[in-house]
Amino acid sequence: MQRNRVKKAVFPVAGLGTRFLPATKASPKEMLPVVDKPLIQYAAEEVVGAGVDVLVFINGRNKAAIPNHFDKAFELEAILEAKGNKKLLHLVRTLLPPSATCVYLRQAEALGLGHAVLCAAPVVGEEPFAVLLADDLIDGGEASVLEQMLRVYDRHGGTIVAVEEVSGQEIERYGVVAVQPVTEQVFKVTRIVEKPKMEDAPSNLGVVGRYILSPTIFRKLATIQPGSGGELQLTDAIAALIGEEDVWAYRFDGRRYDCGNKLGYLQATVAYGLKHAELGGEFAAYLRTLDSSQLQQP
Ligand code: G1P
Repeated sequence: MQRNRVKKAVFPVAGLGTRFLPATKASPKEMLPVVDKPLIQYAAEEVVGAGVDVLVFINGRNKAAIPNHFDKAFELEAILEAKGNKKLLHLVRTLLPPSATCVYLRQAEALGLGHAVLCAAPVVGEEPFAVLLADDLIDGGEASVLEQMLRVYDRHGGTIVAVEEVSGQEIERYGVVAVQPVTEQVFKVTRIVEKPKMEDAPSNLGVVGRYILSPTIFRKLATIQPGSGGELQLTDAIAALIGEEDVWAYRFDGRRYDCGNKLGYLQATVAYGLKHAELGGEFAAYLRTLDSSQLQQP
């Protein structure tokens, strides 16, 4: 069945990034670089690579950094041009393809992920749309996670959350789903809860930061009450959809790095450093020189 195509992606980028202070005191966490690109650039590339070309950013404090990143940088381009640095000039001019449109909205108060997504309603309208949390950096391999999810959407429609298996106590940091299997990677969601206690978690499948949402979510977001952490939770609005519309969980192919925490961020830096076209070889050689004494904690 041919479905309404997903044309817009929403990036909630107004979080306080407290886990990365002081790095995030004056700059959003989505601007933290992994090797040479900020997290938001990886997420934007995932979106345009999947054929979605309206990028809606829900900005908060430190609002300038992300629009500035994607804007034309006249002064920088003039300097690079004068120096004849064609390679860098091309790089800064092609962060997004000409087909992409960026829309910046402001979330005045940090009232939660659900509230951030609700801010996108006037721009998204009555269409299905994607939500990406840029601090979940996912190397999907041949097809990005969003691309994989759009394929699932073409078959099943509805609302889709990306999930992965999470071990032990870690599950308390996630939205968690109860499911019935449909295929090896697609599950029907029968329940979803935000940050449950480990003993109350309905499964070990945690939601990671990729969603395809039906526009009905906006009506649910407008009526839910504050939930976990006193915030308006996207998870609670998805819970309110279950029973009315299909909600699917998709266990994606790929490796996810939780760049919202320092260890995940360091792991991402090593992985993306190793596969970097220019640096990878030298970086791998450097890592091989580290002997066990250097790998001891001081
Ligand atoms: C958010 C969502 C949570 C999801 C997580 C994935 O939580 O509320 O359901 O599992 O992202 O990264 P946050 O990490 O913003 O606390």
